[in-house]
Amino acid sequence: MVDMTVTYAPSHGLGEEQSIWFKLTPLLAQENPMQMLLRLTDKYNGVMPVNLKNQRIVMLAKPEHAQRVLVDNAENYTKYFDGLRPIFGKSMITIDGALWQKIRMPQQAAFHPGMFEEYFPYLMNSINSKMERWDQLAESGETIEMVEETWTLAADMVCRALFDREMPFNPHFIFKQVKTYTDVGNHKSIRMRRVNGELEEITQETAAKAMEIWDSVPDSVMNAAIIDNREKTLLTMLQDAAENPEFPEFDHRQAVDEMKQYLWAGTETTALTLAWSLYLLSTHPEALKRIREEAYAVCGDRDPEWNEVQQLTYTRMVIQETMRLYPPIWALIRIAQEEDEIDGHKINPGDKVVVCTYVLHHSDKYWNNPEEFDPERFSRERMKKRVKYSYLPFAAGRRSCIGGALSQIENTLALVQLLRRFTPEYVGEEEPKIHATVTLTPKGGLPFRIKRIEDTV
Ligand code: HEM
Repeated sequence: MVDMTVTYAPSHGLGEEQSIWFKLTPLLAQENPMQMLLRLTDKYNGVMPVNLKNQRIVMLAKPEHAQRVLVDNAENYTKYFDGLRPIFGKSMITIDGALWQKIRMPQQAAFHPGMFEEYFPYLMNSINSKMERWDQLAESGETIEMVEETWTLAADMVCRALFDREMPFNPHFIFKQVKTYTDVGNHKSIRMRRVNGELEEITQETAAKAMEIWDSVPDSVMNAAIIDNREKTLLTMLQDAAENPEFPEFDHRQAVDEMKQYLWAGTETTALTLAWSLYLLSTHPEALKRIREEAYAVCGDRDPEWNEVQQLTYTRMVIQETMRLYPPIWALIRIAQEEDEIDGHKINPGDKVVVCTYVLHHSDKYWNNPEEFDPERFSRERMKKRVKYSYLPFAAGRRSCIGGALSQIENTLALVQLLRRFTPEYVGEEEPKIHATVTLTPKGGLPFRIKRIEDTV
């Protein structure tokens, strides 16, 4: 008789039977999971309960649902992070209530708009390093994976601007380790392979090794070369909190986990937005031309200065439209604590509710020609007409993204600088397909070749 007992280390979090990712694997594994989600939520008029043996998942796809869950009755809907604990530890993104507020407080100041001017030269340094690399890539003509390129840039920006440290790790290597976990669609297949007796050891060891490496990253950053010995950075704020005897909840482990959170939440999402925007621009040359024209009109031939960033409005609209078409966080998941009613449907305590950002962003109820790339949707005039809560790249309410404004500055500067010198050309054979992991990633990546602008215009 075949022994079907599954032994896996729960601390690794892979293939947890209760995990929503595990349950949704059949949907995520579809050829086009987002189109399927759009069709299904439309068929069920925006509320799609999925009844499983011992739990219920309710997919929600209307702006008023998002308002109920994220804003009006937010205290009833707590965070859900099964299967992803190794990535985030006990960082604030995963916790709720009074403790969340307490943990967030000492970090808040690092994201005050007044700090961004201080970050500006560090962001520019990261972008300049990327430009040097792209110069070499243009020379060699090799094909590169764009998400790896942009992740490297985003990680470098977080290390320099927020931590005042040189990036001490090989980002391509680290990026791959994290994928072992964030590629949640694999959780089930990984477990299934193990149930069938194949690859059992390999999968488990790979996952454990990946997490060991990921766990070591914050310490390596703390011990890395200090850039300018700035007095107040996000890292010093975390260290001060950890050393404060009156703040026992915030120990060294908390500081390490907060760093892990920033090194993922502040990099993966920003990187995907930049990579998808470069894909869209490579297929919409008229928009690429407008970015270059805007850059020239605002700063001529020289690098942008801090007080010019706000004037790069078209570039920012391209980023906003990219996040509409490809929201890096395509679903916001919460657990209901108490009974509630949404759109005539009873929500029970313990139900997992999923606010489907992707569906909201692609619905023709809220957007004209939703599949069309049209950055002008984000012009001031047209934004006034937008249905509230139909655009949620950074979520909404008190748990919305702490780094949303910063990410837009990072990506605006990156687009302007990179596109003034280079023309990145998408060289995939077909339109990229979507792979729904925790984030919305391109299936098989985004292959690009980098050309110098003088070789293409
Ligand atoms: C395009 C870029 C980004 C996108 C699309 C994005 C999206 C989001 C979303 C949707 C959430 C809420 C998740 C939920 O409610 O379940 C979130 C939370 C968060 N994000 Fe971002 N993010 C981006 C960039 C950044 C950056 C640059 C940082 C920091 C350097 C950052 C740090 C965080 C943190 C710490 C939280 C948790 C906040 C809390 O729970 O209090 N994010 N982000």
